[in-house]
Amino acid sequence: MKQRLVIGNWKMNGDQQTNEMLLKDLLVGMTNGGNLEVAICPPFPYLASIATQLQGRTVGLGAQNLSPATHGAFTGEVSASMLRDIGCRYVLVGHSERRALFGDTDDVVAQKFAAAIAQELVPVLCVGETMDERRAGITTSVMTKQITTVIKHVGIENLARGVVAYEPVWAIGTGETASPDQAQAVHRHLREVIGAFDERIARNLQIIYGGSLKPDNAQALFTQPDIDGGLVGGASLDPASFIAICDAITTTPRGTA
Ligand code: PGA
Repeated sequence: MKQRLVIGNWKMNGDQQTNEMLLKDLLVGMTNGGNLEVAICPPFPYLASIATQLQGRTVGLGAQNLSPATHGAFTGEVSASMLRDIGCRYVLVGHSERRALFGDTDDVVAQKFAAAIAQELVPVLCVGETMDERRAGITTSVMTKQITTVIKHVGIENLARGVVAYEPVWAIGTGETASPDQAQAVHRHLREVIGAFDERIARNLQIIYGGSLKPDNAQALFTQPDIDGGLVGGASLDPASFIAICDAITTTPRGTA
């Protein structure tokens, strides 16, 4: 059965002391039940020490961004091989904050996805529409473009080596969540777009939801047949909330289409 996945995106938060406490509480509280994979994405400076602390544990490690380039004169950038070297398994690509604030276009996102695959990292491709795009009724065409740009660049077999995260931009950090029906409809659409390239890959690909995911809305979202897990921002900074979201998924039966 397809594994479900919950990833905590710590964004640019914390310091050595608070991260240490957060990690400790997470590792103590996390039950390793069910068919669930859990990972955290701390800021770059803390990745190496957290990698050491996660050795022998079931919680995976991810980065929040990477360079599309392999190495060289790119001041301030971090390459896929460096992330792999220090023990990352995942890397977020195309998070809406990167797209909106740092100019990550669909093409740059596709290059970053390719760079991650080349180093055998698991890229978590974030896609999502803005509120203006939703109001204009173009959510599905925006999703189609964001996902097909990556498929055309890396090929469908390589898309299958990653994860897709649907994160409606209007739901990120706003406290406003997509309703289970709204999220399910977009997840289904993404699977249909991918299915036009390869149906088996579309069925098996993990497509997770993100955007104000909280313990009290997690269960309703996780019962949807096309939602395979969550990408959690704010609530991942509170160990009790993050653990409650992980517990919600292990106790929620997968919905049927
Ligand atoms: P949020 O963030 O849970 O705080 O809305 C999600 C994300 O940005 O990945």
